[in-house]
Amino acid sequence: MIGLLEESLPLTGILSDLNDKVAGLLQILIDEEAFEGKVGSTAMTRLGPDSPVKKIAIVGLGSSDGMALEGLRRGAATAARLAKRAKSASMAISFPVWNNNQALTAQALSEGIILALNHDTRFKSENKAQKGVSLAHIHLLSFAGEEDAIARAQVICEGVVLARELVAAPPNVATPDKLAETATDIARDYGLELNILEREQCESLGMGAYLGVAQASDLPPRFIHLIYKPAGTAKRKLAIIGKGLTFDSGGLNLKIGGSGIEMMKIDMGGAAAMLGAAKAIAQLKPDVEVHFISAVTENMISGHAMRPGDILTASNGKTIEVNNTDAEGRLTLADALVYADKLGVDAMIDLATLTGACVVALGDDIAALFSPDEELSESLSKAAELSGEKLWPMPMEDKYFEGLKSVVADMKNTGPRAAGSITAALFLKQFVKNTRWAHLDIAGPVWSDKESGYNSPGATGYGVRMLVQWVTGS
Ligand code: BES
Ligand code: MG
Ligand code: ZN
Repeated sequence: MIGLLEESLPLTGILSDLNDKVAGLLQILIDEEAFEGKVGSTAMTRLGPDSPVKKIAIVGLGSSDGMALEGLRRGAATAARLAKRAKSASMAISFPVWNNNQALTAQALSEGIILALNHDTRFKSENKAQKGVSLAHIHLLSFAGEEDAIARAQVICEGVVLARELVAAPPNVATPDKLAETATDIARDYGLELNILEREQCESLGMGAYLGVAQASDLPPRFIHLIYKPAGTAKRKLAIIGKGLTFDSGGLNLKIGGSGIEMMKIDMGGAAAMLGAAKAIAQLKPDVEVHFISAVTENMISGHAMRPGDILTASNGKTIEVNNTDAEGRLTLADALVYADKLGVDAMIDLATLTGACVVALGDDIAALFSPDEELSESLSKAAELSGEKLWPMPMEDKYFEGLKSVVADMKNTGPRAAGSITAALFLKQFVKNTRWAHLDIAGPVWSDKESGYNSPGATGYGVRMLVQWVTGS
């Protein structure tokens, strides 16, 4: 049983009741371990041989932040990890309720537990996790009647796990065909409409920017358009677009040693989040029509690769001088945005591992939010606040577009080093005409080298929970 310790160390409320039930052992544990309740700290003790509960543990939530939704989510993750390490087959946890909202709290606790216990062993020859006791039963104490919230968390986490697995899969496995196949599976399993455009169809739509990137790869490009339509009339129509580079070598502006080229399987993190959200949304069935889009390909080198200096024409007729083949994501997104802009949706949002500059600016934990639309920015920030995925607003300084001016074409694809994530966003803006739009640069948080909260080292599935919240929230 895992209880909560608040800042005040004398036990009160449920903890005091629990302490009485275990003959004062909880207080002894706290005193012996000098437990202060710091974030992430834990203490555990064994109960007597006759006790039906074998072990009792406490998890520190820290100060007031720890009592917010994300703090509780992380606290539940710590509890689950502790129980797993203690070889418990079942655990019961007791946590406080955030903001008097039982449902959201139960959902967050469940998310923290499910995501912390998810381990990807697909590419190991031996599955160590399967040996020994597994934590099979988890009870949320004092959340009776919140079965729907728990079921919702399970569905959402299925989406997060799908995104994690797609991002973590190596680029020889997570190919454009594999992403198209994943979209096909979702469409078949949940009855969604699906269009996969082949190279020829993209050619007839004039998608020269996307196809310029795709032209060096031996693997065919796949343009995914998956559509969820509610049974009744849709109260809103939305589009979610993900950058889908299954590998980014940089192209002829090849990524050099030390540039992290061996990690460039993560460059489809936007498409993975889009597919994970699709899987969850298809099961949650909101009254909202959602279009899931990705122009999937690889950025490779070969004798028929796009050259630095080539001029490409995007599907809105705009011409682009490619002064750097490594700024390929914005080229694929250009045609995806033009396509989505024609669907007549109320708003569209793209997620992209777009720039190293964004990682320099905001680090590994925070994504950047760019949007000319304040209301849309606010709705996304609100969704991110609830999901605990960090998002920070960045300026779309129009003046910086000067850095993208080309002598020969309408624009270049890269500007000066300064404000690299802003010029990338300004480039994308050229391909949006009619639709409210936001761009999320998720280059930092798609991957984590360290264990943190409910994320294990590896792919985080960043964006899925926020997208589901954005689509299904009011
Ligand atoms: N996929 C990269 C961005 C990236 C970097 C994602 C690190 C995840 C982690 C993108 O295609 C890229 O190469 N961007 C260049 C842009 C530059 C050429 C203007 C970059 O950031 O260096
Ligand atoms: Mg690149
Ligand atoms: Zn890239």
